[in-house]
Amino acid sequence: MTPTRTIARSRVQPAALLGAFTSFAACAALAVFALAAPSAFAAGNGNNTGTAVDEQLAHGAYLARVGDCAACHTAPHGKPFAGGLPLDTPFGTLYSTNITPDPTSGIGSYTYADFAGALREGVAKDGHRLYPAMPFPSYAKVSDADMRALYHYFMHGVPAVAQDNRADGLRFPYNVRALMTVWDTMYLPKGTYQSDPHQSVEWNRGAYLVEGLGHCSACHTPHGMFGQEQAFDANDNTTFLSGGTLAGWYAPSLRQHPDGASAAAVKAGLVGYLRSGRSADGAAFGPMTEVVDHSLQYLSDADLNAIATYLTSPPLRTQFNAKAAPATGAAGAADTADATAVALRAGHVSSTGALLYLNNCSACHRSDGTGAVPAFPKLSGNGLVGDDDPSSLIHIVLSGSHMPSTASAPTPLAMPNFDWRLNDQQIADLLTFVRKSWGNHAPAVSAEQVQKVRATTVSAAR
Ligand code: HEC
Ligand code: HEC
Ligand code: HEC
Repeated sequence: MTPTRTIARSRVQPAALLGAFTSFAACAALAVFALAAPSAFAAGNGNNTGTAVDEQLAHGAYLARVGDCAACHTAPHGKPFAGGLPLDTPFGTLYSTNITPDPTSGIGSYTYADFAGALREGVAKDGHRLYPAMPFPSYAKVSDADMRALYHYFMHGVPAVAQDNRADGLRFPYNVRALMTVWDTMYLPKGTYQSDPHQSVEWNRGAYLVEGLGHCSACHTPHGMFGQEQAFDANDNTTFLSGGTLAGWYAPSLRQHPDGASAAAVKAGLVGYLRSGRSADGAAFGPMTEVVDHSLQYLSDADLNAIATYLTSPPLRTQFNAKAAPATGAAGAADTADATAVALRAGHVSSTGALLYLNNCSACHRSDGTGAVPAFPKLSGNGLVGDDDPSSLIHIVLSGSHMPSTASAPTPLAMPNFDWRLNDQQIADLLTFVRKSWGNHAPAVSAEQVQKVRATTVSAAR
C-alpha cells in the first residue's frame, strides 16, 4: 500500500515544539527555551570516532549518542557539532553553538572544568549563562568519569570546524542572560547521580541514564510556569515523567502500567520500542522519532534493558492504570466481531465521523481499527488514541508522520497529512468517532481543540 501523499517531515521544526506562552513576564519568557526540543540532524553525522583506538574516545562517542548532543548541535546539512541550528521562539531565535574543538569559534579552549561547568551548571567558559534549551539540568547528574570521557571525545574525536556562532535574535528583555542566574538558583538540581542502595545495579544504571544524559524528562515531565521541570528524579512519586506537552505534541506519561500486563511483558515491549521505534501498538512519531533515530537505537542491549527495568519498576510504576486498558483489545487485537467494525464493513455509516474514517483512514488502519501491525498501527486500544489530552492525536492527523528508520527496522512507512484535506470540524468528528469505537472510551474532540493544534503546527508540517 503506497500512501498517495507522503509527508517528508523528516525533521521536526523547533518552532513547533515551543510552548505557546501567554505570560509576558520576563522570567516566563525563559520558559520557552526549556521547551525547545532536539530537532533536525543531518543523517550520517555524529559518527566521528574514525579509527579511534582509544577506549575512552569510543566511550565518549557512545555517551554523546546517549546525550543526543548532535540532535541540537548539528544543523541540517551542517558539519557535525558545528552548531547553528535555529531554535525559533516567540521572543526571537536562539542558535545552538559550535562545540567542535576549534580554539576560536568552538570549545577548543575549554578546560575540563569549563566543559563540566557548561554541561552541569549551564555556565559557558566566559561566564555567560546558558538557556535551558541546553538540557544541563539533566546533564548535571553525569558522573565525573563519564564527563571526562565526553570531554576527551569532544577534544580529540570530533574534527575542529571554524564556524562562528550566530548572535541570538532574542528581543529585550529576553536576551538578558543574567536572568538565568535567578532561574539556576531556584531550579537547578545539584550533584551527580547518587546510587539508591535499595535498588538493583541494573535499576540504578537505568535511573542514571534516564534522569541524566538521556534527558527524557526534558519532554516527558510537566514544566512549571518558568519552564523548569517539576521533578528531576524518581524520588518524587507522582510528577517525574508523568507526561509533558510541547505545543502540539504530548510526550505521554511513562508511568502508566496497562491493566493485566506483567512487568516483564511491558519491559520487553519497551526495549523493542526504544531500539526500533516500533511496538505492538504503534510507532514513535514526532520528536520521539528523532530520539530513536539519533540516540536510542545506538544504545547497547544492557543499557536499553536497564532503562526498561527502571521505567517498569517502583517507584515509577506502582499503580495500575484503568484508562490504558480498553474493553476489547486488552489482550491484543480488538474483537473483529465488534459492532462498529461490522457496521462499517457492511457500509452502514452511522455518523459523519464514521464516513470520514471509512474514506480517509480505513485503507490502512482497517474498518475494525486493527491496522496491520507492525506496518500500520492499530487504533483500537491504542494509548495515544485514548489519551485524555488529544493534542498528539490531532497533530498526527494534521501533519502526518513517518516511522523512524533504524538498523533493526529500516523501511520508514508514512502516515499521510490531512491538514490540506479535512477542516477542523471534520477532524473533530472523525477523531470523536475513533475515540469511541472498537472499545475505545475517550472524550470527544472539538473543532476548537483541532483549531488550536492547527495554529501551532501547520507551518511545521511542510
Ligand atoms: C535539546 C538541545 C540540546 C542538546 C540535546 C544539547 N545541547 Fe548543548 N546547547 C544547546 C543550546 C541551544 C546551546 C546554547 C544555549 C545558549 O546560548 O544559551 C548549547 C550550549 C552548549 C555548550 C556551551 C557552548 C559555548 O559555546 O559556550 C556546550 C559545551 C554544549 N552545549 C555541549 C553539549 C553536549 C556535550 C551535549 C550532549 C551531551 C549537548 N550540548 C546537548 C542545545 C542542546
Ligand atoms: C524531544 C522530546 C523527547 C525526548 C527527549 C524523549 N521523548 Fe519519549 N516521547 C516524546 C513524544 C512527543 C512521544 C509521543 C510520541 C510517540 O509515542 O512516539 C514520546 C513517546 C515515548 C514513549 C512511548 C510512550 C507511549 O505510551 O506510547 C516512550 C516509551 C518514550 N517516549 C520513552 C522515552 C525515553 C526512555 C526517553 C529518554 C531516553 C525519551 N522518551 C526522550 C518526546 C520525547
Ligand atoms: C496510507 C496509509 C495510512 C492512512 C490512509 C492513514 N494512516 Fe494513520 N498511520 C499510518 C502509518 C504508516 C502510521 C505509523 C506512522 C508513524 O508511526 O510514524 C500511522 C499512524 C497513525 C496514528 C498513530 C498511532 C500510533 O500509536 O503511533 C494514528 C492515531 C493514525 N495513524 C490515525 C489515522 C487516521 C485518523 C487516519 C485517517 C484520517 C489515518 N491514520 C490514515 C498509515 C496511514
